[in-house]
Amino acid sequence: MQTSQLTSYFTNGPDHAGREIYQAALERSVARLRELLPIAGLRNPKIGRPDHSWSFCDGPDWVMGFLSGQLWLAHQLTADPVFAAAARARRPQFRAVLDSRKARDHDLGFIFSLSSVAEWLSTGDEVARSMALEAARWLIGRFREEGQYIQAWNPVGPEDRQQARFANGRMIADTIQNLALLHWAHRETGVADFREVADLHEATTLRCLVRPDGTTFHTFLFDPATGEPLRGETHQGYADHSCWARGQAWLIHGFANCHRVTGNPVSLDAARRLATKAEALVGGSKVPVWDYSLPANGKHPVDSSAAAVTAAGLFLLCELVPEAEAVRWRNFGYRLLDGLLETCDLTQTPNAQGLLAHGAGHVPAGRCDAMLPYGDYYFMEALMRAQGHRDFFW
Ligand code: GLY
Repeated sequence: MQTSQLTSYFTNGPDHAGREIYQAALERSVARLRELLPIAGLRNPKIGRPDHSWSFCDGPDWVMGFLSGQLWLAHQLTADPVFAAAARARRPQFRAVLDSRKARDHDLGFIFSLSSVAEWLSTGDEVARSMALEAARWLIGRFREEGQYIQAWNPVGPEDRQQARFANGRMIADTIQNLALLHWAHRETGVADFREVADLHEATTLRCLVRPDGTTFHTFLFDPATGEPLRGETHQGYADHSCWARGQAWLIHGFANCHRVTGNPVSLDAARRLATKAEALVGGSKVPVWDYSLPANGKHPVDSSAAAVTAAGLFLLCELVPEAEAVRWRNFGYRLLDGLLETCDLTQTPNAQGLLAHGAGHVPAGRCDAMLPYGDYYFMEALMRAQGHRDFFW
């Protein structure tokens, strides 16, 4: 691999002394991506198998953009056109999402920030820009005026009444990550609707999903007809009252990014409160358990993806606060990265196709202890942020 190309990028200021392990991990991650290209072809990782090979998406999927995001990051690090070509070759798959009523959902931001926006920012390609704007227009179309939130999941019709009842009137923590697409579209076009929907959804997220003690609900239910706020519930967490670790992570990163873009002090305060709580809940563990409210007396699966997203969010938070405070978040981020490197790092495991083991995709549905494409993407983002890199696609 092109180690010499990578080293030109890294800085070696006082904050980075002794952190060469992150540079080495990033170099191994890029090498692993390079190895994956001929194996994956045009397929996108969905979840890892026990032998650390990937099971791939078989159509539109909320996770389909994460490999693309890694490829654009690798392109940024190395300037190697092979990464850009592999990402660009996926464009028809993203076009197919825009063209499918059932595939267009609340996760258009995850998918298109890391594909079309990334391509536009990396290459200036106009088709990529117009696809990203189209995705942003579809996303604001999901805004529910009555309750002031972006509807999560697709409320399906008569073929599945139970799912319709579950999805209708629901917002989720994860959607905050999708607001970056709307902020980008607002900057790009000046159209106020994008910014308004992002700000309103963020405000509802803070009001309904964040508890006074700094823990968070995964989902919140509204009366679909009137928008009346009903109650917090979980979907992927341990219980309605619990604090799902990846949900907390999505929100730390998401609120911090909203503040980075808008300068709203309320967003920064939210990110700080949630980071403070996460710091207490992670305690001395190397990698967080998949839900922070699990009974203390048990052996529970950990979630490497929650650690990676939290670490990326913490390093982002460091950019936004005075240095005296940044030290605290940086050290917490280092601790999470060190835990990942110590217990989950697959980049030195021959034949593994991904970067991190021990991700908890959806424990109540039986999916845990696996490689996850979002864990891998945010691991790369965190490794880069830990070394002062600030240009991402969010
Ligand atoms: N956005 C779905 C998840 O975090 O699993």
